[in-house]
Amino acid sequence: MMTEKKIKILSKPSEVQAIASEWKKAGLSVGLVPTMGYLHDGHRSLIHRACAENDRVVVSIFVNPIQFGPTEDLATYPRDLDADSALCEEEGVDIIFHPEPEDMYGPHFSTHVAVEKITETLCGVSRPTHFQGVTTVVSKLFHISKADRAYFGEKDAQQLAVIRRMTEDLNMDIEIVGCPIVREEDGLAKSSRNKYLNPEERKAATVLSRSLSSAKKLLADGERSADVIRRTITEEISAEPLSDIDYVSVVDSVTFEDIEGEITTPVLVAIAVRIGTTRLIDNFSYSPQ
Ligand code: PAJ
Repeated sequence: MMTEKKIKILSKPSEVQAIASEWKKAGLSVGLVPTMGYLHDGHRSLIHRACAENDRVVVSIFVNPIQFGPTEDLATYPRDLDADSALCEEEGVDIIFHPEPEDMYGPHFSTHVAVEKITETLCGVSRPTHFQGVTTVVSKLFHISKADRAYFGEKDAQQLAVIRRMTEDLNMDIEIVGCPIVREEDGLAKSSRNKYLNPEERKAATVLSRSLSSAKKLLADGERSADVIRRTITEEISAEPLSDIDYVSVVDSVTFEDIEGEITTPVLVAIAVRIGTTRLIDNFSYSPQ
């Protein structure tokens, strides 16, 4: 008779660590998908891949307070643990790690992991403490889950690069798997924050992916000037009255430094735009022949 596998929802780091230790002793591989919950098909693609590639999978659902700035949306960040659990169970996840902030940050907490340089551009300019919050929590999650592989979306390209940098710099014994951006039918990158958009803003938000498509087409047609790419995207977004640009950048994929002049090395074309009060990001990578 088949025994139904019931997903475990655990809140204490030590409980997850104890189970992960048993898994490791039994020679099983462990995949980790760190999330802040309110799961959508973008998250699902990471979870699906983790379940296909590992014997056991931990999904963390934690709205990590230390990666939010004082004026950001920590208090209003959407949450739906029931729907998230159903999605995880459907995909075959073994453990949902769902701690409270106190479980992760005790009263004497005083250790942070900080990646320099590539955290100081793009999103790091308007969110100066954000990446340190991400690298600190992700380091903790790596230790708690004892994962062999961790899955991150290219939607947050800078985050993915920062995690790769941290893992390499600190010799963390874990494979970082990057997964492609999942989009709505009209091109908008899926995001838990899309929920904040009213119908008019939701329509306006398609300007992000449309402007990137225009840039991609220019590059495919042979354009190599970083300035022309930045200008094309900026003009297309500025024509949308509900938009307010945070940045439009063409940066070197490794150093994250702005490309001046011609594009001759692999680049990341990345944008952050406020639609109403909601800040959205999108990007694509490009390698010249
Ligand atoms: P969150 O925004 O919930 O995203 C969790 C993971 O899902 C990230 O790796 C993100 O890049 C990926 N993701 C989100 N939308 C996606 C999409 N449309 N297509 C593909 N992947 C997508 O990113 C975080 O949480 C946090 O910073 C976290 C890493 C959990 C640390 O707190």
